[in-house]
Amino acid sequence: LQVVMQLFLTVCWLLPYSLATCGLFSRRLSSASGPGPKVCIVGGGPAGFYTAQHLLKARDDMVVDVYERLPVPFGLVRFGVAPDHPEVKNVINTFTQTAQHERCYFYGNVNVGTDVSVEELRKAYHAVVLSYGAEANRSMRVSGEGLAGVFSARDFVGWYNGLPSNKELQPHLNCETVVILGQGNVALDVARILLSPLDLLKKTDITQHALDTLAASRVRRVLIVGRRGPLQIACTIKEVREMINLPDTAADMLPADFESISEALKDLPRPRKRLTELMMKTVKTESGQHKANKSWGFRFLRSPLEVLPGPDGKRVAGIRLAVNKLEGSGEDAKAVPTGQTEDLECGMVISSIGYKSLPIDPCVPFDPRSAIVPNNMGRVKDTAGLYCSGWVKRGPTGVIATTMNDSFDTARMLLKDMDSGMLNLSVNKPGGQEITALLKERGVRAVSFPEWEKINLEEVRRGTAVGKPREKFLDVKDMLAVAWS
Ligand SMILES: Cc1cc2nc3c(=O)[nH]c(=O)nc-3n(C[C@H](O)[C@H](O)[C@H](O)COP(=O)(O)OP(=O)(O)OC[C@H]3O[C@@H](n4cnc5c(N)ncnc54)[C@H](O)[C@@H]3O)c2cc1C
Ligand SMILES: NC(=O)c1ccc[n+]([C@@H]2O[C@H](COP(=O)([O-])OP(=O)(O)OC[C@H]3O[C@@H](n4cnc5c(N)ncnc54)[C@H](OP(=O)(O)O)[C@@H]3O)[C@@H](O)[C@H]2O)c1
Repeated sequence: LQVVMQLFLTVCWLLPYSLATCGLFSRRLSSASGPGPKVCIVGGGPAGFYTAQHLLKARDDMVVDVYERLPVPFGLVRFGVAPDHPEVKNVINTFTQTAQHERCYFYGNVNVGTDVSVEELRKAYHAVVLSYGAEANRSMRVSGEGLAGVFSARDFVGWYNGLPSNKELQPHLNCETVVILGQGNVALDVARILLSPLDLLKKTDITQHALDTLAASRVRRVLIVGRRGPLQIACTIKEVREMINLPDTAADMLPADFESISEALKDLPRPRKRLTELMMKTVKTESGQHKANKSWGFRFLRSPLEVLPGPDGKRVAGIRLAVNKLEGSGEDAKAVPTGQTEDLECGMVISSIGYKSLPIDPCVPFDPRSAIVPNNMGRVKDTAGLYCSGWVKRGPTGVIATTMNDSFDTARMLLKDMDSGMLNLSVNKPGGQEITALLKERGVRAVSFPEWEKINLEEVRRGTAVGKPREKFLDVKDMLAVAWS
């Protein structure tokens, strides 16, 4: 009976793919050619899917195509969100509903700017929304940044989360102390992954190669260094609490950092006040307790000056920090160097000072200073019919909920421009059909959403076999092989 049941379930899963392959469901694989408005979105992360969701809901004649560089959707929900935060990834269910909407089409494995230009998209659609996120990282701009053992948090996170471009990273964790620069939530994700017991991580969707490396890790101490003070720390209370609750790991804070701030407590906004109180309580209860095998701690008022090499001149052995003081107060206080410096010994440096968007096409305006597409509430400056949402619109900060609101705002602006006639809908546009033809000419084959679902199914199957929610494919070619099998 079990075998029959299993056979039945497999057939239920595979039937849609078989039908799709023989053409019966082909509407789900490529875009429609009707007369309604056609919008395309560049990027299949939260911004892309939330923008699509709002547009589809607002007009029942709207077709929305989502172009994604990778064969797999969901952007940083897949490649950024920490593996031990599975509840955050539930948004994937909402994005999947959007992608499965009868007027939404997903084209994975299409790199906009390389496989097809934004200009070509603008010709084929009534409007184009850029939602391609922030795929690079801010550089520390200090000497020694290129030494072995220095990583950006972006690459480190990409490595443990299975981003194909980071699979070769090989961060040998054969040192005791790691210094993380920056005190945002990404820094805390990285610190937590470095210090979490393996047994906890084994049950997550962290990649097997990361698990193997973490199993051999000698890291015992993680220092999280910020250029400003405790009242300006960028992370949030939930993430600090997770650090405090790490098994066999003590908080190693410096009581002096908190001495002068009790006075300011009463005037702080509530979330900042609670976070500060939690850190102060931790200083009181944990300082001087060294029974745990591992430790973590914040270090304040320190900016990176130089990554110091070891005797071989090739590998990091420490970091020189400028000692700062604060000018001004509150959120806007500025870090100003005092002229003093301090050296910290460490075997690995991870720079977690923020992500950064890049220009993807010369025809699209890009502000290199703020590293965003310049826009007015989502309308790209000086370019009719071009919009943006998410991190490429407002910079690399904000949780998924912030990105959702921001994407809804852009969608509302676009709809308003359709209603006002600013976007000319009287001309019929070819949409995805024209782009599909162009891609075919160029030898680019897109991955449809049902094809992604085949990858998904196989990843879940591989994961189940080892007690994990999924085991991700690390190679684009392996993803494509499953998608097109
Ligand atoms: C490490 C990390 C952990 C995070 N954890 C949390 C968390 O726990 N909770 C929370 O609420 N928020 C979290 N966030 C924030 C959240 O991930 C962002 O708010 C959100 O992902 C931003 O969405 P986006 O669509 O703008 O960018 P992205 O998620 O980066 O999506 C952009 C998409 O565009 C695609 N793309 C890029 N270039 C091209 C191109 N040329 N052509 C086609 N497609 C392209 C990318 O492949 C990607 O899929 C985290 C962020 C990071 C960095
Ligand atoms: N669990 C979650 O909900 C979660 C997890 C991960 C990420 N996220 C979200 O994703 C977004 C990005 O996170 P993030 O950690 O990358 O960014 P972030 O929150 O902006 O933090 C960046 C950190 O880097 C510091 N920094 C920036 N430039 C610097 C420089 N030149 N020198 C030294 N320090 C510098 C910042 O200090 P200053 O404050 O002084 O600028 C800050 O401490 C955030 O909104 C975050 O909340 C959420």
